[in-house]
Amino acid sequence: MTGTVVGQLISLSEKWERENCCHGYYKNTLDDIKGNRIFLAVEGGTVVGYLFGHKEVTEKTTSVYEAGTSFFEIEELYVKPEYRNRGIGSALFQYMEKAVSPDVDMLMLGTATKNFRAILHFYIEELGMEFWSARLFKKIR
Ligand SMILES: CC(C)(COP(=O)(O)OP(=O)(O)OC[C@H]1O[C@@H](n2cnc3c(N)ncnc32)[C@H](O)[C@@H]1OP(=O)(O)O)[C@@H](O)C(=O)NCCC(=O)NCCS
Repeated sequence: MTGTVVGQLISLSEKWERENCCHGYYKNTLDDIKGNRIFLAVEGGTVVGYLFGHKEVTEKTTSVYEAGTSFFEIEELYVKPEYRNRGIGSALFQYMEKAVSPDVDMLMLGTATKNFRAILHFYIEELGMEFWSARLFKKIR
């Protein structure tokens, strides 16, 4: 594979930051990636997309889960722009779902993607996630 995997992940996250498509997204350092379980989409020895996250256990009971529920927190899902809309993002998600299913009861993620309609369609209609909450803003001065 070209370069180290971690080097390729950091370089993809630099591209993601430059794309400016997610509020508050900054490129990763090694520390951001450490401790996560990483799934890669590779073409010709180059990483063209990735998903990473880690297992956690809920502390408090909420309206959507009981305290003590194990879940996989999806930290990042990214596909290089020129490889998008070919099913790679969905394939990464579905592969991860199958891989983590013996260990966790739920998948969770937060999103700050500016194209919120497309991302909600992707996660809810294409990948079967459910909507929990959203934070909105309106600048008035
Ligand atoms: C979200 C993302 C991973 C999808 O990857 P992909 O390989 O294009 O996904 P697929 O081909 O499996 O599915 C395409 C779907 O992605 C969604 N999508 C398309 N463009 C998008 C965009 N600019 N932003 C967010 N979602 C988008 C649409 O729901 C699309 O569905 P459609 O084919 O019915 O129109 C990719 O658009 C991406 O890397 N976006 C930038 C990073 C990002 O926002 N990540 C999610 C953070 S929570």
